[in-house]
Amino acid sequence: MIVALPQRRATGSASIDWTAATRELHLRNDWISYALAVLENGALGQLYIGPALARGSSYRHLVPDEFHGFSNRLGEPVALEYPTAGSGDYRVPAVAVDHADGSTVLDLRYLGHRIVRGKPTIDGLPATYAEDEDEATTLEVDLRDEPSRVIVTLSYTIFRDVPAIARSARIRNDGTVALRLRCAMSASLDLPDADWDLIHLSGTWARERHVRTRRLELGRQSISSPRGSSGHQHNPFLALRRADTVEDRGEAIGVSLVYSGNFLAEAEVEPFGTARLRIGIDPETFAWILEPGAGFATPEAVIVYSDAGLGALSEAYHRLYRQRLARGAWRDRLRPVLVNNWEGTYFDFTEERLLAMAAVARDVGIELFVLDDGWFGRRDSDNSSLGDWFVDRRKLPNGIDGLARRVEALGLRFGLWIEPEMVSEQSELFAAHPDWAIGIPGRTRTEGRQQYVLDMARPEVVDHLFAVLSGILGSAPISYVKWDMNRYITEPYSPSLPAERQGEFFHRYVLGVYALYERLVGAFPEILFESCAGGGGRFDPGLLAFAPQAWTSDQTDAIERLAIQWGTSLAYPLSSMGAHVSAVPNHQVGRITPLATRAAVAFFGVFGYELDTTALTDDERHEVQEHVDFYKAHRDVLQQGRFLRLRSPFEGDRNETAWMAVSDDARRAVVGYYQVLNRPVPGRDRLRLRGLDRRLSYRVSTWPAGTDQRARASDGLRGGDELMQAGLILAASREEGVRRGDFWARLFVVEAE
Ligand code: DGJ
Repeated sequence: MIVALPQRRATGSASIDWTAATRELHLRNDWISYALAVLENGALGQLYIGPALARGSSYRHLVPDEFHGFSNRLGEPVALEYPTAGSGDYRVPAVAVDHADGSTVLDLRYLGHRIVRGKPTIDGLPATYAEDEDEATTLEVDLRDEPSRVIVTLSYTIFRDVPAIARSARIRNDGTVALRLRCAMSASLDLPDADWDLIHLSGTWARERHVRTRRLELGRQSISSPRGSSGHQHNPFLALRRADTVEDRGEAIGVSLVYSGNFLAEAEVEPFGTARLRIGIDPETFAWILEPGAGFATPEAVIVYSDAGLGALSEAYHRLYRQRLARGAWRDRLRPVLVNNWEGTYFDFTEERLLAMAAVARDVGIELFVLDDGWFGRRDSDNSSLGDWFVDRRKLPNGIDGLARRVEALGLRFGLWIEPEMVSEQSELFAAHPDWAIGIPGRTRTEGRQQYVLDMARPEVVDHLFAVLSGILGSAPISYVKWDMNRYITEPYSPSLPAERQGEFFHRYVLGVYALYERLVGAFPEILFESCAGGGGRFDPGLLAFAPQAWTSDQTDAIERLAIQWGTSLAYPLSSMGAHVSAVPNHQVGRITPLATRAAVAFFGVFGYELDTTALTDDERHEVQEHVDFYKAHRDVLQQGRFLRLRSPFEGDRNETAWMAVSDDARRAVVGYYQVLNRPVPGRDRLRLRGLDRRLSYRVSTWPAGTDQRARASDGLRGGDELMQAGLILAASREEGVRRGDFWARLFVVEAE
């Protein structure tokens, strides 16, 4: 079972009730209710989403009963489950089609429904799941447009252990002529008021997923990706929060899309003051032909409602995504501490140099050595060889197998970088199959990082990649794979598709990526996969279903990482965030931060190093060994505990960040406190913790030990009540305050006696 959130109302079940007399459906668990009703005109109306309501009562009156359909009340903002355009609802639709005659109206009326235990899968698409039938209950509602015989099946799964509902839709053409699907959202949510702040995670390369907050305004506000992947710029996640919602108090609603391609997440406020949220595949770059009898499945959207602050909203996503989206052998295993050679060597390495790095890594307690880009073809820079997945014997005379065995002989596991979806113009693969690179015949292909994207919409490309990559992965003791993707798609087009189906290209690309992942993960169930896209350019729930961790960002500066990891944590668990210590001056921003600060930030994630270990001084090696030991001692909490945000790097003067990870039984916590610039004459600050047990006594110790006298004043036995209500002492004496300097971090380990 999913380790449940601290329960407040413990029925310990998820239920879906149908009341025939009032034609209502009520999905409910210990936290939330989601209620819908068949309206008088047959449309499926939305009644409520919020804290759990009593079972057995009717909530139908929440829709005005004089409503008789849009033909009578043009423009009335009635709350609908899967709205359509063209018959009186002028807000953004959930679904849109072109019929054979060119008309576009769909009038979806309730046809019937089923309630099933557990959770069905979605063909070809990753999705959350239930491990046993009691963990979740699923409602499937069929709606039909009578003239065209389009059937829409809306699917809703309510989980027992988290305040979350997974939604998706399946659109089927039961008619006799083909039609074109132009928009097929995964979920649409009509909220009765618009008094919310909108939160999204945005940025660019090396500063992904910064928290952006703005007032919800009249009109449409959206984020999207037309890039072929979810992208560095926006993440397929939106949240609404009330103006007074904070981390541990107040209402919030999140929508997150289990998808790795072009997406749209949008809020629309109309003049009556209601708000519509929709999320799904971006309709701008999508069209899908539905022949008679054919169906289309949307990706899944996960809706979380919290009345206990943004923190509880995030925790629901963390639990669900770590335990019921991630799959495979590594889902529940503690992840190894790794060193990756990328920033240590870039393309310039030999087997001997790598082995020297691995030997030091072993000495300091690192468990996995990862060979990044540059091991194949003749790849001495990023302008060649992608697609030529055979070893470069100039650098690795004994092949991957020889290197991997020698790394294993040192006592480390071995991991390998690949970038399957790409091809360099200078490569044997491109010479043999120039048409496999995405492009439009007769037009210039736009290059990005001197490379092209392979047409993953073509099954033969996926087959080729599976054959080649499974050959490599099977040829050596490889325990880990980093799957990179370093450019976006341009000139979207696939010669394998007829003209009228080119609108399917982007989605078919993503289906191809998922198919390849599925086959490789299936063939190598013991390999730990980490996804990556030029850092965090495809950090989304879709890939988490295949790769339980992702490289969070190419930004390895500790201070920049505070913002990135904080933002990422809004929707993603610590177990999904690769976080490495790199050398200084930092390669992205040139900043020099203390080694302890770099470690203290990277501890909150899947920890590792990204540097030349042979360049560490003796003192640094000693320190790194202590850091690795510390992480190993607490990685159960740091990877699988509850993650609670305490002080935001996006608020106030942006000089501080604090967060903590605490075990599910509340007996052990690691607290991180970070200060960017040192300020003169520090105040008498205290940091209030969360998630502890107020009845327990905790022993508090600071890390690194023995450097800060006042911080040590926090050391000793403290009550859970004191730590949460009075807080931990952060103040320093004047002299110690001076010694802190800039970019300072302290950890506190809090352990129940
Ligand atoms: C981008 C990744 O994010 C880096 O970590 C590294 O793997 C490079 N690509 C290699 O080309």
